[in-house]
Parts: sequence; structure tokens; C-alpha cells
Amino acid sequence: MTVKPTTAPAAGRTRERVVTMRGIGKRFGAVRALTDVDFWVDAGEVVALIGDNGAGKSTLVNLLAGVHTPDTGTIEIGGAPAEIGSPADAQAYGVATVFQDLALCDNLDVVANLWLGRELVSGRALDEVDMEQRTWTLLRELSAKLPSVRVPVASLSGGQRQTVAIARSLLGDPRVVILDEPTAALGVAQTAEVLNLIERLRERGHGVVLISHHMADVLAVADRVVVLRLGRNNGVYDVAEVTSETLIAAITGASDLARPTRTEPHRSVTEDPADVRDGRTATITPIPRRTSPRPPGRGGRS
Ligand SMILES: Nc1ncnc2c1ncn2[C@@H]1O[C@H](COP(=O)(O)OP(=O)(O)O)[C@@H](O)[C@H]1O
Ligand SMILES: [Mg+2]
Repeated sequence: MTVKPTTAPAAGRTRERVVTMRGIGKRFGAVRALTDVDFWVDAGEVVALIGDNGAGKSTLVNLLAGVHTPDTGTIEIGGAPAEIGSPADAQAYGVATVFQDLALCDNLDVVANLWLGRELVSGRALDEVDMEQRTWTLLRELSAKLPSVRVPVASLSGGQRQTVAIARSLLGDPRVVILDEPTAALGVAQTAEVLNLIERLRERGHGVVLISHHMADVLAVADRVVVLRLGRNNGVYDVAEVTSETLIAAITGASDLARPTRTEPHRSVTEDPADVRDGRTATITPIPRRTSPRPPGRGGRS
């Protein structure tokens, strides 16, 4: 069995639901990367997506990014059915993804990286002044600290490079920003910078999906935590009410039996005005024990 949304939370929820994925299944040949997964993100919400290597995190967000298409299940963006067949589709739907490798051009400066492929032109020339001004405006909005926007990104720190990649993802004014392990390679100070940046994204009203292995980061910045294990939902938690021990137990499967979790209904915001705590929406239900767990060790892509 899998974790099924049962009750509607939503009471009192005024935020728009920007992404709803229901019953998502995805296979790669014999590998079942995802089975019956439910996932949702509201505007102005940071959702951490966590799980062991191979749990299906990247596959799930790749379905939103248009890298893969689901075998089963449905995706809604902004309340309407979405068929995301390509990265260009994802962009059109307002889904921006910052992949782990950042895909920056090291030899180009910050402005050039931000506007690569969507350069502003004035007459027949690039409008460098406008692009530079808009770059600074965006960086200021993000409270991002960069020494200059006219240095090659190769000369920037890891945190600053992450900042550039995130800023670039915002140019199309996306509804959802997906960050795959943004702090994986960063030191303490740079991690703090990126976490601040994530808070700015939330303030700007973007829905944020944060894939992370770092419990401290997750607990520091996320509003809600979604755990995947072996390609299935294994719990949804309000960060205000969860400990890292509980999350680790959900990741490893130590908590497969009758652990309280928050689950989400698929109902509209107007339903079920009960179940609201602290302005957040919450429903406690035990997770049914899976009857046929899959063996671990399905490979280590992450
Ligand atoms: N393109 C692919 N081809 C074949 N198998 C894949 C592919 N992408 C992911 N997988 C498999 O799907 C499972 C989930 O992988 P992934 O989504 O990368 O997990 P995570 O990001 O949580 O580490 C793993 O068993 C992985 O080996
Ligand atoms: Mg991954």
C-alpha cells in the first residue's frame, strides 16, 4: 500500500496550489522509479523533498522539469492539467529547475549567464546596460551579495554560483522553482547564503521544491517535508512539528509502522474548514504498512 491522501487540509489555506501530482508512476525498463506518488506545492511554500539515494527524488522533479514524462498519474499546474513533454513546456508552465550541475558557462560573466538565450536587444545590438541593470535589480531583491556582475562566474564561490543559477531561473517569473541539492557542495557560510535566498524565493511567492540531504537545511528553511522511500510516498510532515530523527526514520524505513504523518487531501481550498493548526493545514493519519516492500539497493543515481 502507499500513503494516500485522506483528508483535506486546506482549510484556511489562502495560498494558490501551484503544483499537484497525483498517482505518479514512472519506470525505467525494469526499474520502478516511482509508484503511485502524490506531491503538491503551494505558492509561497518551501517543500523539502527528501529520501535516500535512488528514492526517486530526481525522477519526480524531472517529471515537472519536462526531462521525463510519467507513465501513470496526473500533473496539474496552477489548477489546470499539464502535459509537460519537454523542458520548453516546463518553462511555459512556469516551472524552473536549477539542476545540481548548475549549467553555468564558466567563462561568461554573471550578466551573460543570466540572459543567455534570452538576451535583450536594442536595435541590432545587445542591450548590455538594460541587462546589467535588471541583473542588479534581481540580485538586490534576492539580497544576494556578488562583488560584480561583470566577472566570469568561474571566479565566484560555490554559493555565489548557486545564486547566479537561481537568479537565472527567475527571469521567466516561474510559479515553481526546483532546487536539486543546492547546498551539497557548500560550506557553512555559503549554505547560509543559499538558505537566505530560498527564503527570498518564498517571500516572492514562488513555490519552492528543495531536494536536500542536509536535515539542518531542511529544518531551517522548509515549511513542509515530503519523504520518498523506494519510489513511494513515505510521509509528509509539517516542519514545525517534526524532528530530524523522525525524518531519518522515514527515510530509512525504520518508521514504516503506524507513524503519525501529515497527509494531504486532493480537495479544493474551500472544503473542510476543520483541521487547521497555526494557520497551516494538517491532518494526522497513520501510514499503512506496505505489504510488499521492494528490496533496497536499486542503484545509486542521485
Ligand atoms: N534515466 C534513467 N534510466 C534508468 N534508471 C533511472 C534513470 N533515472 C533514474 N533511474 C533509477 O530510478 C531510481 C530513482 O532514481 P532517482 O530519481 O535519481 O533517485 P534520487 O534522486 O532520489 O537519488 C533509481 O533506481 C535510479 O537508478
Ligand atoms: Mg537525485
